[in-house]
Amino acid sequence: MACASSLFAAVPLAAPVAVFKLTADFKEDPHPMKVNLGVGAYRTDASQPWILPVVKKVEQQIVSDTSLNHEYMPILGLPEYTKLACELVLGKDSPAIAENRVGGVQCLGGTGALRIGGDFLRSWYNGTNNTSTPLYVSAPTWANHNGVFGASGFTDIRSYRYWDPAKRGLNLQGLLEDMEKAPEFSIFVLHACAHNPTGTDPSKEEWQKIAEVMKRRSLFPFFDSAYQGFASGDLDRDAWAIRYFVSQGFELFCAQSFSKNFGLYNERVGNLCIVAKDDDNVTKIRSQMEKLARTIWSNPPAHGARIVAMTLGNPQLYTEWKGNVKTMADRVLLMRAQLKEKLEKLGTPGTWDHLTQQIGMFSFTGLDPSQVDYMIKKKHIYLMASGRINMCGLTTSNLDYVAESIYEAVTSRACQ
Ligand SMILES: Cc1ncc(COP(=O)(O)O)c(C=O)c1O
Ligand SMILES: *[C@@H]1O[C@H](CO)[C@@H](O)[C@H](O)[C@H]1NC(C)=O
Ligand SMILES: *[C@@H]1O[C@H](CO)[C@@H](O)[C@H](O)[C@H]1NC(C)=O
Ligand SMILES: *[C@@H]1O[C@H](CO)[C@@H](O)[C@H](O)[C@H]1NC(C)=O
Ligand SMILES: *[C@@H]1O[C@H](CO)[C@@H](O)[C@H](O)[C@H]1NC(C)=O
Repeated sequence: MACASSLFAAVPLAAPVAVFKLTADFKEDPHPMKVNLGVGAYRTDASQPWILPVVKKVEQQIVSDTSLNHEYMPILGLPEYTKLACELVLGKDSPAIAENRVGGVQCLGGTGALRIGGDFLRSWYNGTNNTSTPLYVSAPTWANHNGVFGASGFTDIRSYRYWDPAKRGLNLQGLLEDMEKAPEFSIFVLHACAHNPTGTDPSKEEWQKIAEVMKRRSLFPFFDSAYQGFASGDLDRDAWAIRYFVSQGFELFCAQSFSKNFGLYNERVGNLCIVAKDDDNVTKIRSQMEKLARTIWSNPPAHGARIVAMTLGNPQLYTEWKGNVKTMADRVLLMRAQLKEKLEKLGTPGTWDHLTQQIGMFSFTGLDPSQVDYMIKKKHIYLMASGRINMCGLTTSNLDYVAESIYEAVTSRACQ
């Protein structure tokens, strides 16, 4: 037989995923002062990943618990995990929970929750399979939103205005206008807190205005909650928007991730929390979700869900976890304050108030692509092309270097 060319000869090389490419470049860089401000994960002040002490403790309990095994779990996940996860985001005293119209689906990370929610909506939302239902994401947003909902089959993915670069804050008016103009029943993906990448959240009053328009125009809220506890250090405060929407009678989905607030990135611990009109709705929705999960991952992983369920279900461990979350949030707040202070001390042109006004892991620095390029090429400081930095990449030992480099990046362009 002739030596045929490969059946895959036509496969083009796909572009690398920007944030992982940045980390790979960082790892290869031999420079002693290099700093990684790209990756979306927590780091200690010694630039190390952090295993939460409460997680370590619970893992030891799991290892020594002889009643646990590796049997398949229910397709929709560990029941106590999905229940506790929904309680965490909606509040234990949520009227929707009391009325039995809440249900969870264990998913592979927040990404899996967005995906299965997208797949479900694509087949069942508004009573029809309608791939042209408009689905809106914020401009800008976490880059994967477009990919996930596109893969679910949505063909009309649009963006709503969110970030005002001049103000370095929320473009509330643009956002509300885009909601007013959206076709009725459109789906809106909303960041529950600690908006990625801008670090800018609506205030309570602004959320109230958003909810008012969404209700009047029958827009569906699909919350993405990947940072509960990370924004303010307070789990309830960070869930305020979702709870407010529930109080306003919305049916909604919320994709939850425990990657960040439990530091369980590689265990893929997510939950899709569903709030519907009544328990009958929830039962039927979950039955369809079970069909979807069966064909995608068939059965969810147990380890991370056990850790989260054991922690949330035990008052003492729960208190300990809250302390661990606060430790992470406080370090971020400290780095924000110190970076701002240092930049101002150096007399760096521009205002840097947004560094402390923004919340969560990320900050949109306002550095433009040429300044970002300067930071990477000349200073070996790695950050996203958008100017987004992960505050956890800063430490007390690299902060001066980063601040001086930002000063240089900003001023060197001014002289060009
Ligand atoms: C806004 C947003 N949504 C969802 C996710 C997904 O998280 P997970 O790693 O749990 O899939 C992330 C992670 O970076 C995120 O930033
Ligand atoms: C949508 O399509 C799926 C797959 O073809 C089908 O099972 C489902 O019944 C459809 N949904 C509606 C609301 O017609
Ligand atoms: C599908 O969605 C489009 C866009 O909103 C709408 O115009 C159309 O009427 C919908 N089709 C059905 C069958 O609901
Ligand atoms: C939702 O359903 C209604 C009634 O069938 C239809 O008129 C409308 O176009 C649908 N909207 C979307 C966005 O699918
Ligand atoms: C959902 O709840 C509403 C209001 O109680 C009810 O009218 C409707 O039949 C339910 N839908 C499903 C699919 O169970």
